[in-house]
Amino acid sequence: MNWEEDIKKTKIEFEEKLKKIKTKEELDNVALEFLKRKGKIAQLKNYFNLLKDEEKKIFGIKFNELKNYIEKEIERLNESFKETLDSKKFYNLILSWPGKKQYIGSVHILNRAKKEIIKIFNEIGFSAIDSPEIVNEYENFDSLRIPKYHPARDLWSTLWTTKKNILLRTHTSAFQVPYLLKNLPPIRAIFIGKVYRYEATDRRHEIQFNQIEGLYIDKENKVTISQLKWVFEYFFSRFFERKANVRLRPSYFPFVEPGFEVDLKCICKRGCNICSNTGFIEIAGAGRVHPYVLKQAKLDPRFYNGFAFGCGLERILMIKYNIPDIRYFLSGDLRFIKSI
Ligand code: DAH
Repeated sequence: MNWEEDIKKTKIEFEEKLKKIKTKEELDNVALEFLKRKGKIAQLKNYFNLLKDEEKKIFGIKFNELKNYIEKEIERLNESFKETLDSKKFYNLILSWPGKKQYIGSVHILNRAKKEIIKIFNEIGFSAIDSPEIVNEYENFDSLRIPKYHPARDLWSTLWTTKKNILLRTHTSAFQVPYLLKNLPPIRAIFIGKVYRYEATDRRHEIQFNQIEGLYIDKENKVTISQLKWVFEYFFSRFFERKANVRLRPSYFPFVEPGFEVDLKCICKRGCNICSNTGFIEIAGAGRVHPYVLKQAKLDPRFYNGFAFGCGLERILMIKYNIPDIRYFLSGDLRFIKSI
């Protein structure tokens, strides 16, 4: 009965077993062997009952030393197993996960549509022209036969600037006369850009939206309304990627005579909520450019004629993509932006 021997032996035995451990399971077994109730350490404890008081003290110290040592070693190894286990798991996850697709952004639907529309019109000889958004009262109204105090001005609720006579254009038609003053017919042009209205917003109205203005002026009264209809049918067929039928319905705009509301035949067979059960969708305004407007552009209406049209960009996109609310376009909501 030599407790010193026994303590030494137990330590050596433990260290030897420790060296051989390769798996967490083996470690657990060794831990049990030494630390469980009635395990190797517990057996050593029996010396407490056998030894005399003075020896008990020294034994107690040595015993505790060994016990602490074994516990610490086991804990240390346990930790290192945990670490490798974690890193293994992490490694496996990286290998097996499908890569997360990064959203790197995209061109906004309005800009994409503008580009596409310009391309379509380019193909039939219309050039896309940049036009200013801040214009004067004459350009936006008077040049287009919408005089001051005339009720026709109420058609366009206006955002005026603090500068006298200067406003945010309410329609792209404001560039018709300025452009015609600088360019001689034949003219085939489109102006695409933002326009502004001082209006309450709802799902069909925004204070800022985009219009596509078309203008075709030529000499010798060459331009006809059937050409206008053809341009619409061509453009909409390309844009909506289906055969488009168009109807011209008499309407009033001060700067054209005759003036038309342009209706697109709906794809439904009479009865859907896009066309409000009418079979046709109101899609643009158009007409033969009024002689008054030509005169403002210093063109003699006896020799020149032409047509003009104006169409809301958001409107045709809402029809094409079934977008229920115009306010989505400027909301910045990524769910909307990513969806088209
Ligand atoms: N400028 C009109 C608007 O904003 C749309 C329009 C109608 C433009 C008829 C035209 C046209 O060029 O001929 O409501």
